[in-house]
Amino acid sequence: MRVLLLVHGFNSLSQRLFVELDAAGHDVSIEFDINDDVLSEAVGLFKPDVIVAPFLKRAIPETVWRNHLCLIVHPGPVGDRGPSSVDWAILDDADTWGVTVLQAEAEMDAGPVWASATFPMHHAAKSSIYRNEVTDAASCAVAEALERVQSGTSVPAHAEGIARAAVKQADRAIDWTSDDTQAVLRKIRSADGVPGVKDSVGGRAIYLHDARAADGLSGEPGALIAKSGPAVCRATIDGAVWIGHLRDPECATPFKLPAVRVLADESADLPEVPMDRENGYQEIRYEEDGDVGYLHFDFYNGAMSTARCRRLLAAYEKACARSTKVIALMGGLDFWSNGMDLNDLEAASSAADASWENINAIDDLAEAIIRTDSHVTIAALQGNAGAGGVFLARAADRVWLRDGIVLNPHYKDMGNLYGSEFWTYSLPKHAGPENARRITEARLPMSVHEAAELGLANSVFSGERSAFLREVAAQADALAGDGFREMLAEKNAARADDEAAKPLTAYRDDELSRMRRNFFGFDPSYHVARYNFVHKIIKSRTPVTLARHRDRRRSVIAKGEQMRDAS
Ligand code: COA
Repeated sequence: MRVLLLVHGFNSLSQRLFVELDAAGHDVSIEFDINDDVLSEAVGLFKPDVIVAPFLKRAIPETVWRNHLCLIVHPGPVGDRGPSSVDWAILDDADTWGVTVLQAEAEMDAGPVWASATFPMHHAAKSSIYRNEVTDAASCAVAEALERVQSGTSVPAHAEGIARAAVKQADRAIDWTSDDTQAVLRKIRSADGVPGVKDSVGGRAIYLHDARAADGLSGEPGALIAKSGPAVCRATIDGAVWIGHLRDPECATPFKLPAVRVLADESADLPEVPMDRENGYQEIRYEEDGDVGYLHFDFYNGAMSTARCRRLLAAYEKACARSTKVIALMGGLDFWSNGMDLNDLEAASSAADASWENINAIDDLAEAIIRTDSHVTIAALQGNAGAGGVFLARAADRVWLRDGIVLNPHYKDMGNLYGSEFWTYSLPKHAGPENARRITEARLPMSVHEAAELGLANSVFSGERSAFLREVAAQADALAGDGFREMLAEKNAARADDEAAKPLTAYRDDELSRMRRNFFGFDPSYHVARYNFVHKIIKSRTPVTLARHRDRRRSVIAKGEQMRDAS
């Protein structure tokens, strides 16, 4: 079928549906919901069999839904209606939640139901539930709905429902004198990533993000009592919470930044809890099981600032000094890595200098991974990865992916960045030159299966999280078993050959000379793109890489094929 994905933005759920529908053989194109006229034009150009709307912020115009089958992906169970479904589910501490695919009609979220799926809830931020549970359920429900549409046999039925209003700041305002730790966490998680819970510190309005319990710490409810790395600790009536990131909409950098940076004065004299303490704000964690060392790095939004890269490199070097045989780089639950920390760079006094430091810090880590001669290394991706984060993973000897995650292995959307992390070495080596070109030129999200086919990854394991971790552990143990010595010797010999052919430093120098031009050259595209990304400037048109119906080259080819078929 010809499926038009109509979206407010090409977010994680839309990306997942795009790669899966494409892989299922549908002809998929994307249009950003900009205005009625642009949408009508897109529908006229693409002539979809069905329009699927996984992420919209307004109703589909009547002229479109009356004339075309439009399926809305609603992130709530059958009967749930309204714009804040997952927010309410978290605030209400729901045990289960769901996704419903319903047909657009005049009343929002009230049309006939084509498919639905449910899932158990757990304690996590809204963005995490959305990126994982909602996305998995939506992928099943959309596939089922399209099968029903295609078979043409079933008639969807209306369901009873209740519309709930949008969650307002008042619904999740924290009362530090009466809310316990769990209530505070629920409120912050219900609003994380967007819009955050509005709160105040010393009379200053700030938005809270990235909260977790601070076990064993306590103080006067509402008071700031400690800091740990980027986070500040605020006492509740029965404990305390770490708050890792904040947003102050009134300041010169009105986007999410580490809490100690936003509250620099207020946190200056707070006692420091080391980040590697169990009750600190632990971003990096190392554990060992037999011959395998597991290095977890759960960075908020997968953003790898210079400081985080340096901390991770130190932890990696420590892991390499252990007498284990295999090191598994586990990333975080939601993201493995999204490359340089663009918010951190946007807030720097010289974004160009800070970008240069950041890319060098990532490269130091990538180089350490590639040069490791004592261990076999694995990048085990439980969560999505984008831009430099994907190529950092490819620095490892093996790349293992959890089924269902989405990769964005390209830099070009960030103002035509050339990219580094030794991609010019590792990509041709593992994927071959032709696939390397395809991967970096495509500017599109990629499914795990395509990544494995192209050599960007080695294996795909179960999509179910605990099964994935079990499979990683079993396969890592197997690597450390019989044949390890030969495997390590082979790897080191291949590295020595590669080094003789072209030293790693030469790859690094070449890549960085291009990045230097991106950062310091006369073309400001990277700085403009970073500004737009960090300030969440809405796109005013759909890029042709996504709106395939607007790609003249493709339509000429399609027309040619039609004429050939007709003759
Ligand atoms: N630095 C800082 N924040 C980042 C980030 C980065 N490199 N990558 C993602 N984020 C943040 C987003 O701003 C967003 O923040 P929010 O919590 O305020 O909503 C959150 O992480 C989720 O990202 P989002 O873009 O909504 O996720 P997605 O699944 O729709 O898209 C990507 C994933 C990777 C395509 C997209 O995030 C992206 O292009 N990131 C930038 C990658 C990059 O260019 N890195 C620098 C070059 S190495």
